[in-house]
Amino acid sequence: MTVTRRDALRNLFIWLAGSPLLRGQQEIQYTPERIPLMDDLVNVLEFEPVSKTKIPKTAYDFVNGGVDSEWTLRRNREAFNWITLRPRVLANEKQLDLSCELFGTKIEMPILVAPTGTQGLSHPEGELAMVRGAGAAKTIDCVSSNTNYTIDKIGDAATFPIWFQLYPGPDPAGTRERVERAIAAGAKVIALTVDTPYNSHRERLLRDRVAQEVPPGGATPNLVERPGRRRAVPTTPNRYRLTRRFTAELGWSFVDELCSYAKVPVLTKGILTPEDAKRSIEHGAAGVIVSNHGARYLDTVPSTIEVLPEIVDAVGGKGTVLVDSGFRRGTDILKALAIGAKAVLVGRPPLWGLGAYGQAGVTRVLELLQTELALAMGLAGCPTLASINRSLVHIEPQKSRHAGCRPRAFF
Ligand SMILES: Cc1cc2nc3c(=O)[nH]c(=O)nc-3n(C[C@H](O)[C@H](O)[C@H](O)COP(=O)(O)O)c2cc1C
Repeated sequence: MTVTRRDALRNLFIWLAGSPLLRGQQEIQYTPERIPLMDDLVNVLEFEPVSKTKIPKTAYDFVNGGVDSEWTLRRNREAFNWITLRPRVLANEKQLDLSCELFGTKIEMPILVAPTGTQGLSHPEGELAMVRGAGAAKTIDCVSSNTNYTIDKIGDAATFPIWFQLYPGPDPAGTRERVERAIAAGAKVIALTVDTPYNSHRERLLRDRVAQEVPPGGATPNLVERPGRRRAVPTTPNRYRLTRRFTAELGWSFVDELCSYAKVPVLTKGILTPEDAKRSIEHGAAGVIVSNHGARYLDTVPSTIEVLPEIVDAVGGKGTVLVDSGFRRGTDILKALAIGAKAVLVGRPPLWGLGAYGQAGVTRVLELLQTELALAMGLAGCPTLASINRSLVHIEPQKSRHAGCRPRAFF
């Protein structure tokens, strides 16, 4: 059979159109007139281009951007490639069970919604749709301090237990009030974010001519301070803007103080070293969230999956270790569970679901991850979370890793 030049070109085009490489790299572009049905999307990455079509560019850049050269943003994904799975066969499995208990709440999957601020930028119903979407998937939504709706309204909308993420303010009484209000609204855990002493350098937003960390539309009623209280301080070593937050002044005694009055477990969020993980537990935290904030603060820090083993070992069962940053696939989650995380949080994927299809999109994203994790567990011979352990993963030694995380061509 002869293949004409025309046939060859046609075949090449068909191959390119269906290439998983292209899909994986988010090259799909939709138009407002041509949005796919939610049921046609087969993984969570496919929600991103849909949300891009539906929300303003500044909101999209706020959600998806990292900082500086976005080196850590790329590494958060790439580092999963350095870990391979070692499946076991003939596991005598009768039923898959992904449920677990976290601080007294039974959840259907070890996957939680990470706190993400100002969800109103992605959808008019913002945090209300997010909390309902997470509840429908029977998992926990960790509500940010920076929300478009008050914590009381979010608590009222919740159909499942919630957690609260705390950015402390300069007034200790005001911070305590905020914690107590969150607990009254239903928060079962306080996650104290510890990795944001300064506002970060979000170049995508700066290119959009947005000078703040959050584009317009990001009201934060939970953070409204009484008159006379200090706001973040612009410091000016030169003509460029550098904004110091109150949290820069905090030390470990704040963890002691918070643990002394919070009536629920406290976690530190933003831990990247075993030293700080151990210190968190020594100062009363019930556990840590290993996080680089989705690569949104200090660039060139490692991905969280890389530092997870040493942090799990350092905590040594004295506290609960959770992890976030870059989790997009069931196999990513399985790797973290195998290393010793109790559960994983996802930030951008539920926001893509929210931006693309509202509350239903949030639930769908969580259910897709749940299904992928279930399948990965089944194929790896691990029917329950208890049967997952470190023997399931092989972590490539550093020297055999191919050179990744190159800066983009124009840097
Ligand atoms: C748009 C956006 C807003 C965020 N806002 C907060 C916040 O208010 N407080 C906080 O502790 N973390 C915040 N984070 C970080 C997330 O809690 C989480 O650490 C991160 O998104 C996980 O990475 P992933 O997006 O790659 O899953 C935010 C992340 C995003 C993407």
